[in-house]
Amino acid sequence: MSKISLNNICKRYEENEDYSVKDFSIEINESEFIVFVGPSGCGKSTSLRMIAGLEDITSGELYIDGKLSNNVPPKDRNIAMVFQSYALYPHLTVYDNIAFGLKIRKLDKKTIDYKVKKTAEILNLTNYLKKKPKELSGGQMQRVALGRAIVKESDIFLMDEPLSNLDAKLRVEMRKEILNLKNKLGSTVIYVTHDQTEAMTMASRIVCLNNGIIQQIGTPRELYTNPINAFVAGFLGSPSMNFIEGKVKDKIFYDDDNNKIISGVNSHDGRVTLGIRPESIELSKEGDLPFNINLIELLGSNYDISGKIFENKIVLKCDLEKNPKNNGELFVKIPLEKTYLFDRDSGDRIFVGEKHED
Ligand SMILES: Nc1ncnc2c1ncn2[C@@H]1O[C@H](COP(=O)(O)OP(=O)(O)OP(=O)(O)O)[C@@H](O)[C@H]1O
Ligand SMILES: [Mg+2]
Repeated sequence: MSKISLNNICKRYEENEDYSVKDFSIEINESEFIVFVGPSGCGKSTSLRMIAGLEDITSGELYIDGKLSNNVPPKDRNIAMVFQSYALYPHLTVYDNIAFGLKIRKLDKKTIDYKVKKTAEILNLTNYLKKKPKELSGGQMQRVALGRAIVKESDIFLMDEPLSNLDAKLRVEMRKEILNLKNKLGSTVIYVTHDQTEAMTMASRIVCLNNGIIQQIGTPRELYTNPINAFVAGFLGSPSMNFIEGKVKDKIFYDDDNNKIISGVNSHDGRVTLGIRPESIELSKEGDLPFNINLIELLGSNYDISGKIFENKIVLKCDLEKNPKNNGELFVKIPLEKTYLFDRDSGDRIFVGEKHED
């Protein structure tokens, strides 16, 4: 039995003409770490809030532990939710913030004390229990917010962009902590983010959304190597996949200015978009495709180089020892086996190089 099951869930806010979420269907198994990812406004929070019971479901069915739950009040769903704004009570200590939900449930003092201390231990907050939120760092506040969720001992956690207020370094640390925590507790997690790195590193499966519609569901690797359309291909990966608009004629791909880019393309003639990831472009020798460098960014372990192949804007990754020069020219090769082709109108993938195995 699935832990959570969504069956053609739709949401239309009364004042809106359009649906915010359309036909959202997924079976989520126990202990999965599911990440909803997509651009701002694509319906991530709305979907999560419907599962939590904080938003009415317009149509479709939601099952939790096999029970039809569309109309079950949030407090009876045994779900813990963590919000982006930590939603801590500023006048209460860390201890009382964590204990709050248990006091409302009228647990006895001793049980509350035991649970709060155990939770603080898991989250390394033992030394902060007497402090107020304003005395804490962002990461510590975030841990208190997590503590308030954990202490309820729900087996489902819903998290809506819980790390977006933290600086980059803390974000990486908290990412690991949340994963450790999940493994320790064995809980099922649904995690919302618009950050593709978080999605790639944390998810057991990713649900990629655009305009309220699921584009693709799969493991991070599946979505990265086998994206179903140009949207998914462009959303996952940093820097994003490069796209060159053009056409195929007699197995040769030409850009829109009729420059020959690559031959041997296994597709029928027509208007297409060619996709190639920055790390898949190879530095080559004179006579291959000219690449005019515009900007070089040192990222520590490699360079990201922005430039153009003819008039097509391209980003590629390059090893440190290559030592490229600003405003210089490189020659590059686009390996056929690493290219993707997409229908220019629908964005659907129509070809994938043969080396993209899962
Ligand atoms: N309370 C509301 N009333 C009316 N429309 C809403 C409401 N909440 C969200 N919407 C609309 O529903 C759509 C989806 O919004 P949602 O908040 O789910 O997006 P999101 O993917 O979480 O975006 P973000 O990354 O910016 O948080 C948007 O078009 C938004 O304007
Ligand atoms: Mg949101």
